[in-house]
Amino acid sequence: MSALSEIKERARAKKRRVVLAEGCEPRTIQAARMILAERIAAVTLIGNQSEIGKLADQHDLNLADVTVVNPPDSPDYDEYVADLMELRKHKKITADEARKTIAMPLYFAAMLVRHDKADASVAGAVNTTGDVLRAAIQVLGLMEGIRTVSSCFMMTVPRYRDEENRVFLYADGAVVPNPNPEQLASIAVSTARTMQSLLGTEPRIAMLSFSTKGSARHADVDKVVQALDILKKEHPELKVDGELQVDAAIVPEVAKKKAPGSVIAGDANILIFPDLDAGNIAYKLTQRLANATATGPIIQGLAKPANDLSRGCSAEDIVDVAAIATLMKG
Ligand SMILES: CC(C)(COP(=O)(O)OP(=O)(O)OC[C@H]1O[C@@H](n2cnc3c(N)ncnc32)[C@H](O)[C@@H]1OP(=O)(O)O)[C@@H](O)C(=O)NCCC(=O)NCCS
Repeated sequence: MSALSEIKERARAKKRRVVLAEGCEPRTIQAARMILAERIAAVTLIGNQSEIGKLADQHDLNLADVTVVNPPDSPDYDEYVADLMELRKHKKITADEARKTIAMPLYFAAMLVRHDKADASVAGAVNTTGDVLRAAIQVLGLMEGIRTVSSCFMMTVPRYRDEENRVFLYADGAVVPNPNPEQLASIAVSTARTMQSLLGTEPRIAMLSFSTKGSARHADVDKVVQALDILKKEHPELKVDGELQVDAAIVPEVAKKKAPGSVIAGDANILIFPDLDAGNIAYKLTQRLANATATGPIIQGLAKPANDLSRGCSAEDIVDVAAIATLMKG
């Protein structure tokens, strides 16, 4: 079974609720129908009732099967406005700004998750990554013990060292451009949690660099070493090693030579890249040269799940991301 089929199976068993903030968008409506047909989650759509009604007719979605909410008409609207004013008081948000903000589907959807009326929100078929993330960061905040929101990509490599469909998580490939050591450590912790939530596999984390165990000296290497020190101090339970070049991280024979005694022994399943350039380039290279499937970005480190979509996504992509997002609750 592919990693994604396994994820859908796990999502089905959890019977969770997903809110799709872009309810007036055809791919989202199609996705809602598919999520219900595949019994992945219960669905709430945010948007104008009559617009959603028209699209539902066109795409064979029975509105009796979903919850539709138009933010200003919701009985929860005033409560969420007051909540946002409290959350954003350090920014001196006015009542008028808060009312306008909560009327926006991205913020209202995040509030539904915050108030446990949904388990995860998904958007980004229309909105930009920045807008989706900003709403999630402001309303949901960070997971306990995590210093930054970040992302990872699930990379399914069709064949690697005698193994078919080998799955790696790569981080960060989409959100934090130049993480400091504390942020890099948080990216590793979040990715480990993502692996446990999505795949139930024990994380084996490699903190990547152009140096292996002191083979080169540079401030960029020091950053990775400092992140590793933080991880060892704060999370002694994690199986993590660094700084490692990628061959010492994923090839046991190379690990024996370059990093003898490494706890991950060349068998890492999580690769933490030192910055966004490296992470983004690596995932695209793996996708193109190794014919791997890249699933993501999977947003991690939020107190409760919210996930972004690519604006070029298909309805099927929205279904996949919805399954992932519901599992990110743990
Ligand atoms: C996360 C993101 C939306 C923040 O953008 P921004 O609004 O310009 O960022 P700011 O620096 O003004 O910060 C806004 C708020 O978010 C917080 N914040 C920003 N980045 C954060 C992160 N990674 N984790 C947690 N909080 C973050 C800031 O602390 C700030 O909080 P405040 O409003 O309470 O003071 C931005 O980093 C982004 O767009 N990232 C995505 C990059 C991208 O598009 N990648 C391509 C996708 S493949």
